[in-house]
Amino acid sequence: MHNTLILAPMRGITDKAYRSAFARNFNGFDYAVAPFVAASASANMTNKFLREFDLRNPCLMPTVPQILSNNHEDFVLIANALYDAGYKTVNWNLGCPFPMVVNKNKGSGLLRYPHLIISFLEKSIPLLKCKVSIKMRLGFDAPDAVFQLLPEFNNFPIEEIVIHPRTAKQMYTGITDLDSFEKCLELSKHEIVFNGDIISASQFQELSKRFKLKKWMIGRGALRNPFLPDEIKCGNEIPIEEKYSRLKLFHDEIFSEYSNKIENKTHILDRMKGQWFYLGSFFENRKKELKRIKKTSSLKKYLEETEIIFSNP
Ligand SMILES: Cc1cc2nc3c(=O)[nH]c(=O)nc-3n(C[C@H](O)[C@H](O)[C@H](O)COP(=O)(O)O)c2cc1C
Repeated sequence: MHNTLILAPMRGITDKAYRSAFARNFNGFDYAVAPFVAASASANMTNKFLREFDLRNPCLMPTVPQILSNNHEDFVLIANALYDAGYKTVNWNLGCPFPMVVNKNKGSGLLRYPHLIISFLEKSIPLLKCKVSIKMRLGFDAPDAVFQLLPEFNNFPIEEIVIHPRTAKQMYTGITDLDSFEKCLELSKHEIVFNGDIISASQFQELSKRFKLKKWMIGRGALRNPFLPDEIKCGNEIPIEEKYSRLKLFHDEIFSEYSNKIENKTHILDRMKGQWFYLGSFFENRKKELKRIKKTSSLKKYLEETEIIFSNP
């Protein structure tokens, strides 16, 4: 069976520059869900929004935009603006567990109020020009909301539902609840996408034996090892020298995009160091070099340090 692999949205990391550079240098992802845009009446007017989603200068990796909102009017406004810009589907974020989002009853915060989720869909879906998909967790404190919501979601036309089988309280730690995920499959007539802790091809094979799914979403596993989606799909062993040179091209492309669009040099460094938080795992045995990259405060020194790490497989 052909597996569709989706790059997970990771705010601060998988922006347009990252997704394009990924598609140019690695194989395996069919499309991505973009990190969320917080919907507000003015959001679609901002430069950042236009730059990220302007299809006249498209991202090389096909992308589904994601919206964070608990206000159906704002959601419809942004979703329809995205449709007009050329996007057929938007994703609704019901998973973000960060307190700043949750406290405003957005993202996973909404999972505490399933009736609000249903009324949001009742009000917004008839007004939407595009299709909607959902990304969610099992519940807030306990794995419960999803079992109430999935049967009700069956009454709505929903393109796909990505389930990260953790509660919001777990954030990104603790084990994923595969038994609860299995139960979700029985409750939904929609296409369900698995997302959570896919970190190796062999572990993916195990998961795919248990769950007969077409679509899988991968975040941190691919950020730490960008060859992972290709390893899952093709099982190709790429020589380490080639891996390093592709990682360097990938890195340099992101660096050059940030250098072109961000004026403040400290901000460029911060963004690149954010990338190394994950990419560093690929260079596990190079702790000293990684530390030096983390410490750099000038772009020149940063480039020297990265040159060293990429040139010594
Ligand atoms: C730093 C960070 C930023 C994230 N940003 C988003 C986001 O904007 N939208 C979203 O739906 N999920 C977001 N997530 C969650 C991921 O998309 C994904 O669901 C989670 O990391 C679990 O998948 P993984 O184990 O494959 O990484 C974020 C996660 C992290 C760690």
